Amino acid sequence: MTFPHAHLLGIEPLSPADITAILDLAEDYVTLNRSATKHGDALAGLTQINMFFENSTRTQASFELAGKRLGADVMNMAMQASSLKKGETLIDTALTLNAMHPDLLVVRHPHSGAVDLLAQKVRCAVLNAGDGRHEHPTQALLDALTIRRAKGRLHRLTVAICGDIAHSRVARSNILLLGRMENRVRLIGPPTLMPAGIDAFGVEVYDDMRRGLEGADVVMMLRLQKERMDGGFIPSEREYYHRYGLDAEKLAHAKPDAIVMHPGPMNRGVEIDGEIADDINRSVIQDQVEMGVAVRMAAMDLLARNLRARRAAA
Ligand code: NCD
Repeated sequence: MTFPHAHLLGIEPLSPADITAILDLAEDYVTLNRSATKHGDALAGLTQINMFFENSTRTQASFELAGKRLGADVMNMAMQASSLKKGETLIDTALTLNAMHPDLLVVRHPHSGAVDLLAQKVRCAVLNAGDGRHEHPTQALLDALTIRRAKGRLHRLTVAICGDIAHSRVARSNILLLGRMENRVRLIGPPTLMPAGIDAFGVEVYDDMRRGLEGADVVMMLRLQKERMDGGFIPSEREYYHRYGLDAEKLAHAKPDAIVMHPGPMNRGVEIDGEIADDINRSVIQDQVEMGVAVRMAAMDLLARNLRARRAAA
């Protein structure tokens, strides 16, 4: 299995073969995670530092569990409370980190591009856990694994991504990945929540949700990212739910066996009806969380193999 990358900064640089390599290895880790012992040794002796400059519950917990299950020493640095507030630059942070000799660095940052910058300054493998509205590669990979398991394939599917596309790194990484694997991607949402220049991504754009869902195999709902909005993007949450909230009536326009996804955290009653989210016949939201741990184990395993090979050659 070859994965010719030193870091996982985005979906952008990945080939279809790279994506398949991660997903195939993740399948092994799904099996391991369902076993009694849950432990492997792919990261034994390595130090993983999680640096989250933005709040996160599931992504941070998922990376932490993934590292621990593969035998890494895992440390969480609470960046919210510390250096960033005191005005330390990203470069200083990188120098501090280098002195601690980490092997894997998992970073979430509110600014697009900050994780790439950090990767240029540290001597370890860097994984992007979400940078601004740019990319969130492990989310797109876990979504891809969830889709592949539910649909039996990851190509020639119609995937509707609905909601706040403009502010969403999840949408961006998913558009890139699904496009690369030759799926049809539709974006549904109010024009105020569509990013400028989105046509260049080879997607179809709808502002009518029922039309956009017609014949969809996968319905991926996104959270309204209120913390990234600086003004009136939507008239009101009630109006938004009426037009773009996923309920049974709107979902009936998708294929009868369409699956429903959401990266979390969910705003029930804003972008999705609670009953749909909990419907085990349609919703794969819990599977997404499970696949998240497996995909992160696979990504860190592949990067660690490369890191060890590079160090051995040096
Ligand atoms: C997403 C994120 O942080 O980008 N959440 C996640 O990683 N599970 C989506 C979101 O915040 O809405």
